[in-house]
Amino acid sequence: MNLGEVFAEPLVGLDSKDRALEGIQTPARAIGAVKIGVTAQFLEHADEYHRNYLNVDYWRFLLERAFQETGGMRDPSLIIDIGSGSGNSVIPLADRFPDANIVATDISPQLLAILRDFLSKRDDAKNSEGGEGRFALVCVDAAEANYLPGVADLAVGAAILHHILEPAKVLASCHRALKPGGWAIFFEPFEAGNAIVRMSYEHILARASASETQTDAMRLLQRMVADYTVRQRPKSDPVFLGLDDKWMFTRTYFERIRNEQGWAELVIYALNVCPTMLRNQAEVHLKLGAQLPPSALPDWAWTIIDETDAAISDDLRREWAQEAAVMFRKS
Ligand SMILES: C[S@@+](CC[C@H](N)C(=O)[O-])C[C@H]1O[C@@H](n2cnc3c(N)ncnc32)[C@H](O)[C@@H]1O
Repeated sequence: MNLGEVFAEPLVGLDSKDRALEGIQTPARAIGAVKIGVTAQFLEHADEYHRNYLNVDYWRFLLERAFQETGGMRDPSLIIDIGSGSGNSVIPLADRFPDANIVATDISPQLLAILRDFLSKRDDAKNSEGGEGRFALVCVDAAEANYLPGVADLAVGAAILHHILEPAKVLASCHRALKPGGWAIFFEPFEAGNAIVRMSYEHILARASASETQTDAMRLLQRMVADYTVRQRPKSDPVFLGLDDKWMFTRTYFERIRNEQGWAELVIYALNVCPTMLRNQAEVHLKLGAQLPPSALPDWAWTIIDETDAAISDDLRREWAQEAAVMFRKS
């Protein structure tokens, strides 16, 4: 793939700075630039992040559903993946569209290097015509990415927009890069569903005894509540420069962007809708936030969570959404 036909500015190899980054390109202007609003989790601790969060089959499932929602995705020739990390969405895209060229982008060269090592082992790393490689890796801030107009058929971002100070800039760059009729598909956390999670945790913390509040599980709930509270602040607050998770979205936010940027269509639907949605979310928080099993919370706390789950219909879960697919179509 010729990246000169994708980006509107010259790219250079990062290997001139670090041999371990061979095969990863970056805009020439980004060399030496400070990475703003991203922490060591994605940079120096990329290996640990990769080990904890690689779940290709889950993302394959989410992407397949999204393609169905578009009315069936015709074979794209160029896909731009935004915030690719170590490949949770790139790998399913590569499998699903074997003839597509895929540009994987991320602000973290360390995560891109993990993805590069994986992709280089694939038999289809070359195009079916035997031409140049079908995968390209570009280290770029998604809000600053400068694509040529009308080059891509599909843009995908798996859990990326909520990390960006100004997500509208990412959407504007996708709008520019897409061909007419192209889709930009994202998967993001939403505020309404997470407000229920937060209120359940607050309820549990209010009921916990003094000794229970000192357990690892209760401390995790305290951190989660604090984290939800911080994310309510205006995004101009400097606190977000040191936080990876910045946003929980609303439908209204994306509808405004749709109107401002002139997208033809916006489709939003909740993910993981099921009667035990809160319980599932709490189990994930315990596991990923503190490596704790469900038994780390007392039974009475699970009863609060289960009773809250039972009080909400699946239709309401769909309306509120803890996480949702957000799909924009260009006219
Ligand atoms: C939650 S991870 C998702 C990674 C991957 N899409 C996946 O599903 O595993 C968020 C990714 O966004 C990247 N990221 C954070 N801020 C970014 C920015 N400003 N521009 C581009 N990528 C960014 C991180 O390095 C990380 O790889």
